Amino acid sequence: MKKVGVLGRGTMALGIVQVFAQKGYEVVVWVRSIDENNKRASIAPVEKAFGKLVTKEKMSKEDMEKALSLISITTSYDDLKDCDLIIEAISEDMDIKKETFKKLDGGCKKEAILATNTSSLSITEIANATNRPDKVIGMHFFNPVPVMKLIEVIKGIATSEETKKSIFELAIELDKVAVEVEEAPGFVVNRILIPMINEAVGILADGVATAKDIDEAMKLGANHPIGPLALADLIGLDVCLAIMDVLYEEFKDSKYRAHPLLRKMVRGNLLGRKTKKGFFEY
Ligand code: CAA
Repeated sequence: MKKVGVLGRGTMALGIVQVFAQKGYEVVVWVRSIDENNKRASIAPVEKAFGKLVTKEKMSKEDMEKALSLISITTSYDDLKDCDLIIEAISEDMDIKKETFKKLDGGCKKEAILATNTSSLSITEIANATNRPDKVIGMHFFNPVPVMKLIEVIKGIATSEETKKSIFELAIELDKVAVEVEEAPGFVVNRILIPMINEAVGILADGVATAKDIDEAMKLGANHPIGPLALADLIGLDVCLAIMDVLYEEFKDSKYRAHPLLRKMVRGNLLGRKTKKGFFEY
């Protein structure tokens, strides 16, 4: 694989763009809309991240310029037509994803693998919107993408062994570790992690401990790098809520019911780092 398309401009999409460009892949970033006067604005966080690495002397200026020169930005599906792999990292909305995959299937070369970074939706259902379900796969990265080693590789019902093998080989090239996961709501990590966060929200709502102390307890008592509430702020409370809702919807088990405080905070736009306020202020 040489040329990769990435759909989206959110934290996950741009993290994925950064990782591929840094490893020497040509990356086409597809975004819904673009500022024609300042096209590069869409990838400003990637430029900033590279700038930080240069300041820390973890990347040379030449390597930064080379990596940036590999990234192009487009609003046209046409520019994705010769990509070997396309990774979709747009909204967690099944209808939007199906519509997107249908368009990708129609426009991309027939050998291309179409991957989704969905954190909990069905790969089988997304793949079914295409005429190449054997080449559709889940490639679930973790936030922050440049730091986190794991990629959950999720097969839909029709995903071929060949497609899976290509993604496993790619993970090695990216210096990541792939874990094979059968399709199931929340896959592995989010089925464990997000209910844990939801429980921390319940503990806070019950007045058992303050947000700071809940996090301190889990850092020092369970050796987590950051506490569950700070992690919720990092992931985004809207994303956590959406994942809880998918788990509840799919399993119909009350243990996956989102805590009302989590829902209330999302309704109040207290989404964590991205809105500068969640369980903590930024
Ligand atoms: N992008 C790139 N690098 C980053 C970064 C980012 N957003 N955030 C931190 N880093 C780097 C820092 O630059 C630093 O690098 P150096 O050591 O080379 O200087 C290193 O990571 C450590 O950072 P810090 O010292 O600032 O802070 P830290 O020690 O708390 O580490 C962390 C930050 C790596 C994010 C750590 O807190 C951590 O591992 N947290 C847990 C993250 C996690 O669980 N992510 C999974 C979320 S679930 C998910 O993503 C799936 C989903 O579908 C919802």
